[in-house]
Amino acid sequence: MFARILRDSMSLTQRIFRTARRTNELLTDRWLNIHTCATSDQVPDAETTFGDPVEYDPLHYFLIWRCIRKLQPTPNDVVFDIGCGSARILCAFARQKLRHCIGIEYDPTLSKLARRNVIRLRGVKTPIEIRNVDAASADYSQGTIYCMYNPFGRDTMREVLARIRASLDVRPRRVQLVYFSPWHEDLLADADWLRCADRVSTRFSRIDTSYWVSVQQTLVKRCPHDLRHSSVPKFV
Ligand SMILES: C[S@@+](CC[C@H](N)C(=O)[O-])C[C@H]1O[C@@H](n2cnc3c(N)ncnc32)[C@H](O)[C@@H]1O
Repeated sequence: MFARILRDSMSLTQRIFRTARRTNELLTDRWLNIHTCATSDQVPDAETTFGDPVEYDPLHYFLIWRCIRKLQPTPNDVVFDIGCGSARILCAFARQKLRHCIGIEYDPTLSKLARRNVIRLRGVKTPIEIRNVDAASADYSQGTIYCMYNPFGRDTMREVLARIRASLDVRPRRVQLVYFSPWHEDLLADADWLRCADRVSTRFSRIDTSYWVSVQQTLVKRCPHDLRHSSVPKFV
């Protein structure tokens, strides 16, 4: 009897909490003058190279604000959201003074919605561009901050990391990666050009966030291959 009352009150608390969060998301959308809450059962009429996309689900606003506070992006930063959906993350970032925000989205319908949001966004301080392209064939050479909210499976993730890594050879720079709901975090951990800067979880969401920064390229390059995997420290 007591256990049942406890279970009922817990599920009621969860329902109240979920409703409050959903209301907050809708009100924030309204405040920003954008539409990012709707999800759809419609299968996108486009395919990706590796066929491993994760369907659209917008990241909670409170996780986005927390990420921006933590990263403290500057006017020199170019922020990518890889798998940007309807551009919620980019719209939040673009209210800061940055150099550029770029969204990568393979689904044409979501890309269209994202572009509409970019036009409608209130309080924008940074230009946003939406590229309707598969993440596995996108150009990442301009970025300094890359956000991903569990957008795809391991094969696409591997290709995206390889592309960002290759872009550092062409244009050496410090980059940061933020991975929300990091299902394939082991691939980042295996990359010798990245180091984990932090991993944050919260009581209010099951979505963990891991933060990564690039290791200085010249130092990595100068190391003989066998030393890279030894205990030689990496510098940032
Ligand atoms: C979990 S949702 C995240 C949406 C958005 N980042 C946000 O937080 O509001 C994942 C998004 O990645 C997109 N996506 C999946 N695979 C992709 C690929 N290979 N290239 C580009 N976008 C992809 C999906 O269409 C979806 O919009």
